[in-house]
Amino acid sequence: MVQGGLIQNRVYVLSGPPGSGKTTFGVQFLAYGASTGTPGLYVSLTRGAKTTFENMSGYNMNIPMLTKRNELFFIDVKSVPDYGDSGTSTSPSTIYAEIVDFVSKHSIKRLVIDSMSTMRFSIEDQASRDMELGRFIQNLSLLDCTTILLSEMVDPSTYSTEQYACDGLIFLHNFMRGRSMTRAIQVIKMCGTAHDCEMRKLDFTENALHVLDKIV
Ligand SMILES: Nc1ncnc2c1ncn2[C@@H]1O[C@H](COP(=O)(O)OP(=O)(O)OP(=O)(O)O)[C@@H](O)[C@H]1O
Ligand SMILES: [Mg+2]
Repeated sequence: MVQGGLIQNRVYVLSGPPGSGKTTFGVQFLAYGASTGTPGLYVSLTRGAKTTFENMSGYNMNIPMLTKRNELFFIDVKSVPDYGDSGTSTSPSTIYAEIVDFVSKHSIKRLVIDSMSTMRFSIEDQASRDMELGRFIQNLSLLDCTTILLSEMVDPSTYSTEQYACDGLIFLHNFMRGRSMTRAIQVIKMCGTAHDCEMRKLDFTENALHVLDKIV
């Protein structure tokens, strides 16, 4: 769909509604890289790294082995205070600094951040929210890393800052066709690459996501 793959060291956004496969897509991207010698990092901003590790270990992606070998990492970076805590949210620059630290320490080349929506909620000053998110993405693009930012999307007709600021944007869709749920993937933009614009059927298999024919 993207002429062979993502251009390295750029920042991509993967958006989709609940349960559409964002986390699976992200971890599949990391696991494939890790199994071919490219270390990967999954960052949960919702303290969900352990849960994601457990959920994704059910697929044939060798997740436990790759993590044991330090080729794939799942970490939590605290972005919002725990329930009942009176503390404030962590700023994007602090989150960025923590990520950069890990990336350089472990020579990470593929990075997934789950999710940008969490970061959006954690920026308390609404006036500076878009600027902060734009700067966060700009700084990620300076890393020697191919990055996928996951972001929730309910209404595909309203675009967010990260969707404009990134180098490539992919949508996952979940919708009813007749009485059955159809899942699909669609490349919305891919700077520097010609790409397929069609919606293609997406299946969850024991090997995680699998792209099928276009939906007619
Ligand atoms: N073997 C499986 N293991 C786990 N999930 C599966 C499996 N097969 C299919 N699924 C589907 O995967 C979906 C979850 O995918 P995933 O967590 O990647 O979605 P998401 O877009 O990240 O969701 P959220 O918006 O909640 O973060 C489940 O709702 C389920 O329909
Ligand atoms: Mg998810």
